[in-house]
Amino acid sequence: MTQGDLLRRLFRSHALRDDEQFRLAAEAIVSEERAKNHRLLADDLERLLVGNGSRLGQLPWCGVDLPKDGERGLPLVDLSEHDDGWDRLVVQSQVRDRLTGVVQEHRRADVLRASGLRPRQRLLFYGPPGCGKTVAARVVSGLLAYPLVTVRFDAIVSSFLGETAANLRKVFDFISRGQWVVLFDEFDAIGKDRDNPLEHGELKRLVNTLLQLMDSFQGESLLIAATNHEGLLDQAVWRRFDEVVEFSPPKQQDRALMLRLFLRGFDSSAVDTLSVARKTDRATGADLERIALAAARGAVLDGRHAVLPIDLQPALDEFRIRRRLIGQLMSDASADTASTEV
Ligand SMILES: Nc1ncnc2c1ncn2[C@@H]1O[C@H](COP(=O)(O)OP(=O)(O)OP(=O)(O)O)[C@@H](O)[C@H]1O
Ligand SMILES: [Mg+2]
Repeated sequence: MTQGDLLRRLFRSHALRDDEQFRLAAEAIVSEERAKNHRLLADDLERLLVGNGSRLGQLPWCGVDLPKDGERGLPLVDLSEHDDGWDRLVVQSQVRDRLTGVVQEHRRADVLRASGLRPRQRLLFYGPPGCGKTVAARVVSGLLAYPLVTVRFDAIVSSFLGETAANLRKVFDFISRGQWVVLFDEFDAIGKDRDNPLEHGELKRLVNTLLQLMDSFQGESLLIAATNHEGLLDQAVWRRFDEVVEFSPPKQQDRALMLRLFLRGFDSSAVDTLSVARKTDRATGADLERIALAAARGAVLDGRHAVLPIDLQPALDEFRIRRRLIGQLMSDASADTASTEV
């Protein structure tokens, strides 16, 4: 369809107050812009479209009754709003495509439901620390315009027998009453291998409770569990997820993109990001953010808005030292293990 036809369809549906036709026409325009490689415009239009029906900014925060731990009265979840889009996350295209697919299913959940289907609802994010799992959950929350509920395992796990499982139930009770992106961050703190003989019986019961609650969850929310100890999760937990997404340290090209992203509030045109990317092999997103922000601080304290290559040098040196130290610690640890195994 030509752009003119699409615009006519959009205006006509607006005049007729036909929301469904309006949405279809608007989505077709977004797809056209994306096909033309106008990614930023397409992302923006998409966000505005979803923002239309959004509840963001309208939540009566004070009125929302958060579930609390019975014993200590601590809130079991944190609530937050996000308006991040894809431009805030640098990931491999397969990861982005899979997340886009899930987001689309939730946006069109009514269409799926009309055919007796449901959007995919349980995602597992895994990968080393600092590779974007939490940011990705925020981006998904922003794209769907669903507020983010972060489950606080520190508050859920209680020393009182039975209280921890009761806390988990309260959390599921709460999330089933709304439309949220729910992040079970550091999920493995609770989802440890059920057959691990070192784990206390209470923990085993708890994992069972969690699995049952996830299985029977009927709400409209999107559940995301994140871990960097995927080896600790038991097969029964893995099977419960509709999508398992790996977040790995960025490749060179992505490291360069990240540096630009983290320096976006500054003039970084003098920085050859590809050359910095070459020097930061195995850096995570969190490492690159630390390097970029250290450089930005240096520039600001020097009274400049422009970040220069020289501003990056101290942070790059520190990164190299830190990487060498970590490498040393890891090889010491594996030597220790080998000697105890002998
Ligand atoms: N892929 C990425 N895209 C954009 N920013 C990233 C990415 N990876 C890391 N970052 C940056 O690094 C910081 C840490 O990222 P994040 O908290 O998402 O890591 P994580 O994978 O959740 O780590 P952990 O396993 O320790 O919870 C964030 O502030 C973010 O800005
Ligand atoms: Mg995280």
